[in-house]
Amino acid sequence: MDLSVLQAAELLLQGKAVALPTETVYGLAAHALDPQALKAIFEIKGRPLTNPLIVHVLCQGEAEKLTLAPFSSRAQRLVKAFWPGPLTLILPKAPSVPDVLTAGRPTIALRSPKHPLFREILSLCKLPLAAPSANPSGYLSPTEANHVRHMFHEAPIPIVDGGPCQLGLESTILDLCGPQARLLRPGPLSAEALEMVLGESLLTPCMQASPHTPLLAPGILIQHYSPRTPLYLYPYGSALEKKTAKTALIYFKKPQNLEEHTYFLSETGSLSEAAAQVFRMLHTLDVQGYNAICIEAAPPEGLGLSINDRLTRAAAKFSGI
Ligand code: TXA
Ligand code: MG
Repeated sequence: MDLSVLQAAELLLQGKAVALPTETVYGLAAHALDPQALKAIFEIKGRPLTNPLIVHVLCQGEAEKLTLAPFSSRAQRLVKAFWPGPLTLILPKAPSVPDVLTAGRPTIALRSPKHPLFREILSLCKLPLAAPSANPSGYLSPTEANHVRHMFHEAPIPIVDGGPCQLGLESTILDLCGPQARLLRPGPLSAEALEMVLGESLLTPCMQASPHTPLLAPGILIQHYSPRTPLYLYPYGSALEKKTAKTALIYFKKPQNLEEHTYFLSETGSLSEAAAQVFRMLHTLDVQGYNAICIEAAPPEGLGLSINDRLTRAAAKFSGI
């Protein structure tokens, strides 16, 4: 069922979950302070209750209603530079925030999305909206409405179709709870851009290999975002080899000879174009009956590091990590 923004706001006010476009990926949104609505998100996604949700708000003032204290000058500087946009901040939470949202943690993840439809819905319903990516837990994130429709075709969820997502990678997550800011998830905003505004260097994430050890920080498990088709990641600049007769090859930049079953993320080698295409390409090829997909990593700099983070996770299940 495709919704108008008004219909979406009404359903959200009734405590229903709705898929919405953001500038990063599609989110599965619900009233962030309604534990029943939040439980619906976890159920629909098959997401473990130990993995907390990001809350989306219009502005810093709305965010501060959910945090323990007003934003520090460090947080304010980041907000001024990057909100609305693909930056999620982790801060100590207000006591009124339900435990199910934060998976019992004393902290909350907050971001102000830039997508005009998402912002219109936030203004209409006047609620903070929790929204994880709108995919079944562990599968590829959706960057088009059709990805959401396809992944949930057995039990359709209402959706606002805002076209393809501009950025195509989930937000950069920065933990501001400690004395030094820590990058928990690389994303569309590079560490360098954040460091420039903060005037300090960031602690970098530590990937966590096993879902069975207690979480240092949720969401940093190595395995995540996998397609069903086995995916193999090759270093940037290397030649891709066919694993089986029916293998798809994805190069970072358009190769000179484009053979059958060969694809590319960017015609010109643009990192932002590749970021916007990577999940779309994997969604498309995952339903074409290939036995394997081999993909070349992005150049390991700037946004390329965020693309490679997602590809490393997507391929981890198939490389025995
Ligand atoms: O771009 C995005 O961030 C998208 C769009 C829809 O906004 N959302 C998204 O949500 O990627 P999700 O749930 O797929 O990823 C959120 C990540 C998870 O890895 C979760 O563990 C982490 O944020 N997270 C949420 N609350 C946290 C907290 N209090 N401390 C540390 N990590 C947290
Ligand atoms: Mg996700």
